[in-house]
Amino acid sequence: MTHQTLPTGSVSPEQAAREQSLVDEVVASFAGAESPRLRELMEALARHVHAFVRETRLTEEEWAAAIEFLTAVGHITDDKRQEFILLSDALGLSMQTITVNNEAVGAATEATVFGPFFVEGAPRIELGGDLAFGAKGQPCWVEGTVTDTEGRPLPGARIEVWEADEDGFYDVQYGDGRTAARAHLFTDDNGAYRFWAVTPTPYPIPHDGPVGQMLQAVGRSPMRASHLHFMVSAEGQRTLVTHIFVAGDDYLTHDSVFGVRDSLVRDFALQPAGTPTPDGRDLGDTEWTRTRFDIVLAPAQTASTS
Ligand code: BEZ
Ligand code: FE
Repeated sequence: MTHQTLPTGSVSPEQAAREQSLVDEVVASFAGAESPRLRELMEALARHVHAFVRETRLTEEEWAAAIEFLTAVGHITDDKRQEFILLSDALGLSMQTITVNNEAVGAATEATVFGPFFVEGAPRIELGGDLAFGAKGQPCWVEGTVTDTEGRPLPGARIEVWEADEDGFYDVQYGDGRTAARAHLFTDDNGAYRFWAVTPTPYPIPHDGPVGQMLQAVGRSPMRASHLHFMVSAEGQRTLVTHIFVAGDDYLTHDSVFGVRDSLVRDFALQPAGTPTPDGRDLGDTEWTRTRFDIVLAPAQTASTS
């Protein structure tokens, strides 16, 4: 099918026809794909990238600069650093893919970006345990429940939690093999959970590579709004990957990866030194914070499959 759209700027009807004819030829080249889905994806990709070139009247120098940029993204990518995902994050594409694939179901908790710092096999902590494992930061008590969309508690739900320390670094960024500020735990018979963490603080996405250069060139900050990552799974429920964000944080309105959702912003209430803790822990003359995050999981079968 021909999608005749006139490019921006003044091109003659003959030029527009030449450009459109190339689009049509490229789109048609995918007709023999064995997989209908692959065909659909490639045809749409061709239409959209050609539309971009035509709309912006991309110059050959700009095309070469784009190739150079993508080459640099490839060169810095290895088994530890994934600059392509970072690029997708910074362009909002990761968040858009999550939004498309996690349609709201009732009161189910919203999903957000996974980020590069999850590690399989984080230690288990008991309910009320401390996931800091020596990470620097202000103690933070986190509690809540995990329920389904009918409000039924989900006992035994697995909760993975990970975060950066007060200096803005995840354990894996220190490169010394430490495990800190991450753990997993399970909800109790009432679907409730509680643990100690550190109060999240803002930190930048890795910005010493091409994505960082791109952000700088367009005047954008690499900072992420302060957050605590969660991945929550329970039998029969859609696994939820999300964060909670700190109310009042400076970066809530311009998180570098567009991950903030209003429904995920929580009060981290400051508790003056000496305030009794929920579990009787003695924090001496240290201030601490507390927050609540009640998590609602969507049923597994509602995951978008079409
Ligand atoms: C993070 O939350 O840690 C993160 C997310 C996306 C890109 C980089 C970092
Ligand atoms: Fe993070």
